Amino acid sequence: MAELNLILLGPPGAGKGTQGERLASDQSLAYIVTGDILRAAVREGSDLGLKAKGFMDAGELVPDELVIDLILERVRRDDAADGFVLDGFPRNIAQGEALDAALAELGRDLNGVLLIDVADEEIVRRLSGRRVSASGRIYHLEFSPPQVEGKDDVDGSPLIQRDDDQPDTIRKRLGVYHEQTEPLVEYYESRGLLRRFDGTASVEEVEGHIRKTVSTLRLEDSI
Ligand code: AP5
Repeated sequence: MAELNLILLGPPGAGKGTQGERLASDQSLAYIVTGDILRAAVREGSDLGLKAKGFMDAGELVPDELVIDLILERVRRDDAADGFVLDGFPRNIAQGEALDAALAELGRDLNGVLLIDVADEEIVRRLSGRRVSASGRIYHLEFSPPQVEGKDDVDGSPLIQRDDDQPDTIRKRLGVYHEQTEPLVEYYESRGLLRRFDGTASVEEVEGHIRKTVSTLRLEDSI
């Protein structure tokens, strides 16, 4: 099967993590989640984590010089050779250009950029109710609650609220998205790579739409 290289784009809380987990496992692709990689570095107290924490807690982007090489190294690993789903990268035009250059060097192409769109008001409601497990599984108090309150369905570990899921920080992250990340929509649309999804539909509906689109991308690639 030909390789499939995908980017998930969209505002904070649009459902990138929810869909990315399903998509990567469904299509057997490496799932590279920038936010999870950075949060793990913060938990470990590594040099990167110490530098990144202040930016993340404030809802700002971590500087490019800390993020770009870290993520591109991940894309070059063997387990991403058959394809990847990038969630949270690129986040601005400079990161998009760095990814293009790295893929060109490897003789690889992007196959699609999946934009999940949700209006700002809905985002605040979603992120305020989000809970996550230590291993990154995502729940929502109202829309996808765990089987046992406060516990992960798989390993029973306690669910937590992310530090950046406070209303003021959510609004800051939305501002950063519109200013710095949204220009990537035009960047990829002009190259015919962008596919749009209505993120206000149910999790299952969004998943179905994405699955259909990705099957078409695979088909186009094999012709
Ligand atoms: P990151 O972790 O990437 O956060 P984000 O992009 O803000 O996205 P989220 O994880 O908040 O949301 P999501 O779209 O994955 O939504 P989810 O599926 O959880 O980044 C965090 C920080 O790291 C950044 O602020 C920055 O500081 C730093 N960073 C990361 N990447 C960087 C980069 N490249 N450069 C520099 N800095 C970087 O869903 C949200 C909630 O909604 C959940 O509770 C879920 O259950 C629920 N939900 C999902 N879908 C639906 C649905 N269809 N209907 C109802 N509820 C739903």
